[in-house]
Parts: sequence; C-alpha cells; structure tokens
Amino acid sequence: MSDDLVRPEIKGIKEYVPGKTPVKPGVIKLASNENPFGPSPKAIESIARESLKLQIYPDQLSSLLRDALSKILDLPADNFICGNGSDDIMQIIGATYLNPGDEVIISKNTFSLYELIARIFGGKLVFVDLRDFALDLPGIAAAITTKTKIIFLTNPNNPTGSIFTSDQLEAFMKKVPDGVLVVVDEAYGEFVEDKYYPVSLKYVREERDIIVLRTFSKYYGLAGLRVGYGIARKELIAPMLLSKMPFNVSRLGQAGAVAALEDKAFLEKTLKNNSEGRKYLYSEFDKLGLDYKKTESNFIFINLKKSADEFFLKMMADGVILRPLTSFGFPEAVRISIGTPEQNKKLVEALKKVLK
Ligand SMILES: Cc1ncc(COP(=O)(O)O)c(C=O)c1O
Repeated sequence: MSDDLVRPEIKGIKEYVPGKTPVKPGVIKLASNENPFGPSPKAIESIARESLKLQIYPDQLSSLLRDALSKILDLPADNFICGNGSDDIMQIIGATYLNPGDEVIISKNTFSLYELIARIFGGKLVFVDLRDFALDLPGIAAAITTKTKIIFLTNPNNPTGSIFTSDQLEAFMKKVPDGVLVVVDEAYGEFVEDKYYPVSLKYVREERDIIVLRTFSKYYGLAGLRVGYGIARKELIAPMLLSKMPFNVSRLGQAGAVAALEDKAFLEKTLKNNSEGRKYLYSEFDKLGLDYKKTESNFIFINLKKSADEFFLKMMADGVILRPLTSFGFPEAVRISIGTPEQNKKLVEALKKVLK
C-alpha cells in the first residue's frame, strides 16, 4: 500500500499501550484500574435478558440510560450523550469541535487518549508539565491563547491519583474565555474521598463551555462492555449527537449500564473495598519503604526510582501484572490498581520478594 494514502496526522501516532492481560491461571491483573469484583451482578442479569433481542438495532440516543442518568444527576436528559466508552465521547468531541490547527492543551504524563484525539483531528498539541505530580491549573490557564480550542483536565489524574479542588477549578474557570471548551474527565470521580473535590456539574448548570466525562468502566465494573457518557449544556450535546455514529452504544451496553446504576449493594461494596484497600496498601508500602503518592482513586502511583519495565517483568513472573508507566513518561514508576483483599495481599507478598 502506498504510504501517501494515509493522512499525515495519523503517521505521527504511537500505538496505545494497554495494561497486559494475564495469560497464565493464577496471575492477577492490577494494571488497568478495573473493578476487582467483576461486573455488577444486576448488569449481568440485564445483559442476559437483553441478549434475546440482539436482532434489533439499539436505540440510537440511549434514551433509557440518558433518562436514568438525568434522574440521578438532576439534569435534563438532553444534557447527556452516551458513548462506546468515554473514549468514544472524546473522539466525538474531536470530530465535532476540533478544526485542524486548533490548539489543544493537555497535561504531560497523563492519560494518553487526549493526545491521540488531538492528533487524529489535526489539533496542535500544547503540553503543560505536572506540578508535584498533579495537574497545574494555573500553568494550564497561562498556556491559553486565542487559538486554544479544547483543554483536557483529568480529575483524579491518571496515573498520579491526584485531584484539583473546587477552589482551584473555580479560579481556573474564571480565566477560561468563552469559546474554549474545557473537558473534565472524571473517569475515577466516584472513588474520591476528599471533600474539596469539585462539583464540576455546577459549570454545566451555569451553561459554561464544559463537558464532563464519566464511565461505566471503573466503578461499575463494565470496562469490557464499553459505556461512557458526557454531560454538558444541550447546545454542546446536540451537535455531538449529530456527529456520533448512530448506534454507538450496543443494546447490551445500554441495558447493562442502566442496571448497574441501580446496583447499590455492588457500588457500596466497591467503594468500601477501595477505601480499605488504600489504607492497607499505604501501611504495607510504608513498611516496604516505597515512595508512593496518596490517591483519590482506585490505583496508586509508586515512584520506584529504577526501571519500571524490569520491575514489571519481575512482578509478572511472580504472578502480579502492574502497569509500568514508561508510556506515561515515567520510566521509573509503576501504577497498581487496588484489588480485593486477597489480591492486595498477593501483591504485597510479590513486592516483598521482588524488592529484596
Ligand atoms: C482518565 C481516564 N479516562 C478515560 C478512560 C477510558 O474510559 P473508557 O473505558 O470509558 O473509555 C480511562 C481508562 O483507563 C482513564 O484512565
């Protein structure tokens, strides 16, 4: 095939590096911040029932899911767009709002899909360094120019687990001019315990140019189902509904997500486990003398100060798959997802052996 067929923007793209999936029995995966309890049981039942209707196309607006979200979050249904994972919503944002040459501001050392989206649509990337392993909102605001179109903020940040507070977001939003779209990715928002975590929907209610992203992949245990959603004022959502593919969320996805929202027992168990898992791992990491960052999420960043790739291989040989953060720009750090108590114990045992 001639190379000339490919758009130049695509040639600069590096392949996405996912967390490794276990190939041997007994190996545990603590690499992709998935729910260690598996999918919500209510979602599984609902998906099984829905599978009997798979000859029929899904509802293109995911109406039942939008209505359910609308009730829970107390915003009109036309403030929501559902997608095949929140990464689908990111792509729809790019397709709807990004002109070639528009500037896209992204933090360095964060989730890589924002960069991918900017590259696909010919955006001009503007990177801002993290400060103390957290998003530098004043630095990001200072990087805004007349050409800025989209700013991606991750809260909590992946992979450092840090958050920015409501005061910090408020000060930032004051500096963002009209016509600049702020995308706040709250993929891990449900795990936050800090009472100063912002209610970003406040800015949706104020009809600012903001899109909040959430997902069913983490808290709800449905990463394999691929359902996420965006929340924004209806004028921002309507054109996105036009540029998305009509049937972007499957029947199974819609049915599973609606049921998962109602599975209170599963969600409570998930949060309790995460909270206890954090404390347990902090105390074990302290005993091991590890340099880690306190997290507001379901994963912990560990600064190893030695090759993450080598460490990853040794840990995998010991039955635990972690995420080396080389592709995030931290070649000497790893991220571990908080597991079940048994998985956390296995992780600690493996760490003890490998760190010796
Ligand atoms: C910060 C962040 N946003 C979004 C996603 C993707 O979520 P989804 O599975 O909904 O596409 C992830 C997944 O790892 C993530 O870490």
